[in-house]
Amino acid sequence: MNTVTTVSNADFLATVAEKSDGAALRGDYSKADAHYVVSQDWAAYTEEEHALWRRLYQRQMALLPGRACDEFIDALQAMNAADGIPEFEKASQQLFAATGWTIVAVPGLIPELTFFEHLANRRFPVTVWLRTPEEFNYIVEPDVFHDFFGHVPMLFNPVFADFIQLYGKGGLKAMQLGGLDQLARLYWYTVEFGLINTPQGLRIYGAGILSSGGEVEYCLTPGTSSRHIHLEIERCLNTLYKIDSYQETYFVIDSFQELFDGTAPDFTPYYDKLKSVSPLSANTLLPHEVELLPAQ
Ligand code: PHE
Ligand code: CO
Repeated sequence: MNTVTTVSNADFLATVAEKSDGAALRGDYSKADAHYVVSQDWAAYTEEEHALWRRLYQRQMALLPGRACDEFIDALQAMNAADGIPEFEKASQQLFAATGWTIVAVPGLIPELTFFEHLANRRFPVTVWLRTPEEFNYIVEPDVFHDFFGHVPMLFNPVFADFIQLYGKGGLKAMQLGGLDQLARLYWYTVEFGLINTPQGLRIYGAGILSSGGEVEYCLTPGTSSRHIHLEIERCLNTLYKIDSYQETYFVIDSFQELFDGTAPDFTPYYDKLKSVSPLSANTLLPHEVELLPAQ
C-alpha cells in the first residue's frame, strides 16, 4: 500500500534521517540507492522467516479458491512461491518474460515520486522484510508478503500490467496538478481493494485483500455494513478510505479492460473539479448506486 505516505521526497528523507532508530518507518534505508533500491540479500532470511512465509501462504491459499480472480490464482501458481520467501531475481525474470515488468527490492515505504517513477518504468517495488509472527493477522506497513504475494501475480496480466504503468505516469502528473489525494484513492480502491465481476460471481483482485487473513472472506460476505458498487472513476477519486479497518466500500469492475479504458482519459478536469468539492465519506451510498452483493 505504497501510496499511504503523502510526503514529498525531501520530507520523506527528513523522516528517515530523524528516525534512524527505525521507530517510524521499518526497514534499513542506509544501503538504498537514489531510487531507494536495495539488494534483496535472499541468503540472509532465516529458516523461521521462510516458515512464517509458508504459513501465511497456506492460510491465504485455503481462502482464495472461489474468491480470488482466476488471473491471480493462475499466475500465483505458476510462480512457485509456496516454499519460502521467493528470490526476487528469479520471479523478476519470469515476470519480465510475461509482461516486461521487473521487480525491484526496496527497504519499505518509499517516497511517492520514486514510487511513481518505478511504476512508470514497469518496475514494481517490493519490500524486503517480512512481518514478525505476532503480526500474522495484521500489519500496518506493507511487508514482503503483502507486496509480493498480493501485487506481483496481477502484473502477469498484460492489461493490468499496462494499467499500473499508466497509473505511475498519472502519479507523476498528479503531483504537478495537486491531484495526489484523489489519485491515491483510486489506487486504494482498485489496486489494493478492488473486486471484479465474473460469470461465477464477484472475485478479488486487490492486493490489500488478497494478502489479508480476514478481509478475503469479509469482502464477499453478503449482509455486512459494507457496500459493493460499480466503479465510477470520478466518484472513486472523491471517496475517502479507511486504513485501519475493513473497507466500507468496495468498487467493482466488469473487466480489467474496463479499468484500463476508464482510467486512460486525462484526469486534469477531474482534479480541477474536485478541488472545490468535499470528499465523500467511506460509507457513502448515493441514490443511483446499486448493491452488487445482495443478501442471500
Ligand atoms: N489518465 C490519467 C491522467 O491523465 C492517468 C491514470 C492512468 C491514472 C491510469 C490512473 C490510472 O492523469
Ligand atoms: Co500494496
